[in-house]
Amino acid sequence: AESQGHISVVLLGATGDLAKKYLWQGLFQLYIDQVSSGHSFTFHGAALTDLEPGQKLMFDVLKKVTCPPDEPPNRCAVLKDQFLKLSQYHQLKTAENYTALNREIEMLLHQEGLKEAGRIFYFSVPPFAYTEIARHINSSCRPPPGAWLRVVLEKPFGHDLESAQQMAAELMSFFREEEMYRVDHYLGKQAVAHILPFRDQNRQFLDPIWNRHHVERVEIVLKEIVDAKGRTSFYEQYGVIRDVLQNHLTEALMFLTMELPSNLSKAEEVLQCKLQALQSLRGLEKQSAVLGQYQAYASHVQEELQKGQNYVSTTPTFAGVLVHSDSLRWEGIPFLLTSGKALDERVGYVRVLFKNRAYCTQSEALRDAGHSQCKPKQIVFYIGHGVLNTPAVLVSRNLFRPVMPESSWREIVGQPDLHIFGQLLSDYYVYSPVKERDAYSVLISNIYHGRKDFFITTENLLASWAFWTPLLNSISHQAPRLYPGGVENQHFLDFEMVSGELAFTVAEPVELLNPSGS
Ligand code: BG6
Repeated sequence: AESQGHISVVLLGATGDLAKKYLWQGLFQLYIDQVSSGHSFTFHGAALTDLEPGQKLMFDVLKKVTCPPDEPPNRCAVLKDQFLKLSQYHQLKTAENYTALNREIEMLLHQEGLKEAGRIFYFSVPPFAYTEIARHINSSCRPPPGAWLRVVLEKPFGHDLESAQQMAAELMSFFREEEMYRVDHYLGKQAVAHILPFRDQNRQFLDPIWNRHHVERVEIVLKEIVDAKGRTSFYEQYGVIRDVLQNHLTEALMFLTMELPSNLSKAEEVLQCKLQALQSLRGLEKQSAVLGQYQAYASHVQEELQKGQNYVSTTPTFAGVLVHSDSLRWEGIPFLLTSGKALDERVGYVRVLFKNRAYCTQSEALRDAGHSQCKPKQIVFYIGHGVLNTPAVLVSRNLFRPVMPESSWREIVGQPDLHIFGQLLSDYYVYSPVKERDAYSVLISNIYHGRKDFFITTENLLASWAFWTPLLNSISHQAPRLYPGGVENQHFLDFEMVSGELAFTVAEPVELLNPSGS
């Protein structure tokens, strides 16, 4: 292939948890996918650690990258070898370190006679380190004109509107908006990433029913079994709303509620529609939220933070929040966002439940003699884990047979007697990805392609914080309900809508915490 130029990827925090768990694997996947694209690559892992020990640490991680199951093993082994050879470790601590890195990149390009396509700097470091790193990159590591710079940032992006504004302003003094790729890894989850394409490809069916006349309610759910043990110093400052609802669940909500742009491949249009949807959300009231804290949380806080005896944490580890949109399309429809730690199962999904009468087929109505219920009609974007244990898209058979891109989603037949969302699995058309990819591989591929619509713009970020901050302020001293936590608490925090109101059934025992301090 004709040379498309060279891409240098710099991973800051190359030996940290995220890098170990996902990022190196994602970069290897990028290399596998793009080795024949005409681009050449080098991968520069960086950390504060000295050269020798750092190098060893990093290569210990790199050697563990695995070949995806859909890749021929022989080819993959060769590619892995090349990937390791193209990778090197840098200590990045001082201004000189950054200049040296820049020189090395330039020298390599010069020696190989390569044209530079661009540089990716992936910040897998705590946000307090961002400003300094950003300053160094801006002053010493910018590529020459004609080549692009992409900096990838990981959350948390502030803890409320004001702090997010401040952080955004700082970053904007070093980078242009189009250079910043803020990650929300839920946008890389295959089921979430398919919401917009699904809506687009199924316009013929969805146009008449994707609105308040036909949708009964929407549930956006991320339940986790893990608790916050060992992470309470982070968790105490954030809590579940900042950790998960403000970002992951809100993003999924936007994909559902936004107007479809005329052309999904125009990132700019997608981002505009998304922003509009975010701005159409109705302000939250204190009563919109049900908050919980799993019982052992207090002791997890004590173990780690050694707070005084009278310290009572009011940090929610569970939240169910009822959200409404004021858009014409969605006015009056409840959107329920729920997430929690130490719950009875690990599962994530976005479930759109249609009103019972919508599309009630004649034969169904006849069978029911006209009065009772037709089978539920729903569309579920199943993010993963849970009983299905795979990303999936489910559409009730009595709704329509969806159009799915055959190259990336295939129809599957699950265990027919499995019950899921109040219906038998065999009552749905079910699709799962042809190639399962973890969120970070998807995102890294989108960074490479410069697909900005898979990332959070500054405007989007601030609009989301503007929506959540008033609620966060109003509940900051509110005592969450205590819940036992653990997998055996089967029905903890089940919810249903009772005459338009959100009703949670909370398993016993339930007591109220004393709000801390004031
Ligand atoms: C992270 C949160 O952003 O998302 C974690 O900080 C949470 O608390 C995680 O556990 C959930 O993501 P996933 O990919 O494990 O479902």
